[in-house]
Amino acid sequence: MGMRVLVCGGAGYIGSHTVIQLLAAGHDVLILDNFANSKPAVIKRLESITGEHLRVHAFDLRDAERTERLFDHEQIEAVIHFAGHKAVGESVEKPLEYYQNNLGSTFSLLRAMERHGVTKLVFSSSATVYGENAPVPMTEDLPTSATNPYGWTKVMIEQVLRDVAVAQPDQRIAILRYFNPVGAHRSGTIGEDPSGIPNNLLPYICQVAVGRLQKLRVFGDDYDTPDGTALRDYIHVEDLAAGHVAALARLTATERAVSTWNLGTGNGSSVLEMLHAFERAVGRTLPYEIVGRRAGDIAASFADPGRARAELGWKATHTIDDMCVDSWRWQSQNPNGYPDA
Ligand code: NAD
Ligand code: UFG
Repeated sequence: MGMRVLVCGGAGYIGSHTVIQLLAAGHDVLILDNFANSKPAVIKRLESITGEHLRVHAFDLRDAERTERLFDHEQIEAVIHFAGHKAVGESVEKPLEYYQNNLGSTFSLLRAMERHGVTKLVFSSSATVYGENAPVPMTEDLPTSATNPYGWTKVMIEQVLRDVAVAQPDQRIAILRYFNPVGAHRSGTIGEDPSGIPNNLLPYICQVAVGRLQKLRVFGDDYDTPDGTALRDYIHVEDLAAGHVAALARLTATERAVSTWNLGTGNGSSVLEMLHAFERAVGRTLPYEIVGRRAGDIAASFADPGRARAELGWKATHTIDDMCVDSWRWQSQNPNGYPDA
């Protein structure tokens, strides 16, 4: 049954892809985003993909008064909370901004939900909460920790959510721990559009492929992995979006106040495997050099996705070649990302 879903951070990379699938599943969607890390142009693209007019509330979720007013005026039944800053390196330089934005927006949202009796929440967490020394594949019951302020915001918000659920046992909260989201909508009209020089592997390779960056630097080939480069669980953003729709459906049926689910494929792919998959998508080789390890990186991170499979009936279906083909379609059609206006 369709619900009215508030999507906080719905103009961002993962939020925008999820909005499409929520509408396709029959939900009524409201977007809240202050465009701190996204551009309004994405909204028109979403409208043209879905054929629907989208209602967008452009303000900072930390503005508790405006958030209250929004809940006063709209019969919101569920919330998906993507809003937050996400750059690991930047979080080390600007810890207070990260704690303020990521925690502050969550507090304002949780207060408004409590006052208005809204009991369904899906929260964007990250595999980063497994910290430095977790065994792979990673299961949801491992202890959590972090190595940087961004990661700590996720660990802390997870704890806040568990505490809120004790005090308000009618809450139905999904904590989704994403592994490495990549790829783009098959139309090639929406995708990941990082500002500045990308930190993450796929956006970096994309910009090498369009000629905006000279060559990929592979951070370390001396890990204890099959080809010496680090392993990650890359997951197509379309599979991730489907995971949110499945989690929302599950929240209406579960007795548990808080559920934690990994969203990953269960496969670890190396940096060089991703580079070569991308080269197949582009149809030519791409320049790279091996350099030293990046501080803070771990050798291997991949999910045990068994719980999500069993409880959500959800499973990632896209291969790394699908991910690279779709990323490349987006990047080649939009070499400079979204237009400013
Ligand atoms: P994104 O930056 O593209 O999207 C986040 C959106 O939230 C942006 O549109 C931004 O403008 C908005 N926003 C930020 N602060 C806000 C505020 N105070 N009020 C209103 N809007 C605000 O990021 P994404 O990749 O789509 O990630 C979404 C969520 O998933 C984030 O919470 C992120 O930490 C988490 N996550 C992302 C990844 C990843 O690799 N992309 C991995 C694990 C977890
Ligand atoms: N890499 C390179 N060269 C680059 C960029 C990345 O070799 O230019 C390598 C990294 O060393 C790593 C792999 O590619 O081995 C993936 O790196 P990403 O930066 O794309 O992803 P991470 O796994 O390091 O980090 C991601 C998110 C973080 C999150 C973390 C754990 O970006 O927000 O997963 O979930 F905290």
